Amino acid sequence: MKVAASLDGRTALANGSSQWITGSQARADGHAWRHRAGAILSASGTVLADDPRLDVRLPGCARQPQRVVLDSRLRTPPTARVLAPPGQVLVLCALEDAARASQLRARGAEVLAMAGGDGRVDIPAMLTLLADRGINELHVEAGATLNGALVAGGHVDEVLAYVAPVLLGAGRGMADGLALGALSQADRMRFVEVQPVGDDLRVRARPLGRDAFLD
Ligand SMILES: NC(=O)c1ccc[n+]([C@@H]2O[C@H](COP(=O)([O-])OP(=O)(O)OC[C@H]3O[C@@H](n4cnc5c(N)ncnc54)[C@H](OP(=O)(O)O)[C@@H]3O)[C@@H](O)[C@H]2O)c1
Repeated sequence: MKVAASLDGRTALANGSSQWITGSQARADGHAWRHRAGAILSASGTVLADDPRLDVRLPGCARQPQRVVLDSRLRTPPTARVLAPPGQVLVLCALEDAARASQLRARGAEVLAMAGGDGRVDIPAMLTLLADRGINELHVEAGATLNGALVAGGHVDEVLAYVAPVLLGAGRGMADGLALGALSQADRMRFVEVQPVGDDLRVRARPLGRDAFLD
């Protein structure tokens, strides 16, 4: 789970603006992490707010990871930039609207319905599907809503946070909806790296006891 955050942990202003919290070197470093992944996962909130391409823009890059968008109600517009670069795009929804699905398919996307009990995309089923398709590293670039659902479900193996030396005050955090009533309920992680990248820091943390099979 990759995030770009301010020193006070904000990933966007309250008005949704998040481009750019970190500097150009951190963003280039982020592309190298996208490149090593089998797929890049995002969600409709980010697609609608930022219209990201979610591709790898590195010199000599020959392989684009698959892009996966969780979009319960197929709100992704057919003009979304995530649909444009070469490579496969998979849009997973909870309720398939035939007209919207066909517009996205006309842009080359694969659209599948995979509803969970909460009316959103079934995250465990999505992870199983991607694993069945040979994806063994899933790089997440989403907002606090999907990040929070992934953290709450215990699906995050590593947080890759680029931290900028700026305070943003009120704004969006990294992971919503954790519903913690006491600090003791929070799942502790362990820092595995703290590395300056340009003017920012790259901080990687892993849930305790979960890193034996990583790297
Ligand atoms: N700084 C950073 O690193 C960074 C990175 C990315 C985005 N952002 C910022 O984050 C903001 C967007 O965040 P966000 O929280 O609104 O959007 P988000 O997490 O990107 O997307 C959330 C949407 O995903 C859909 N979804 C489908 N299945 C889901 C599931 N199982 N669990 C959770 N969501 C599911 C939901 O759509 P439905 O509501 O239709 O169900 C939900 O509203 C923007 O301001 C963007 O700039 C910051």
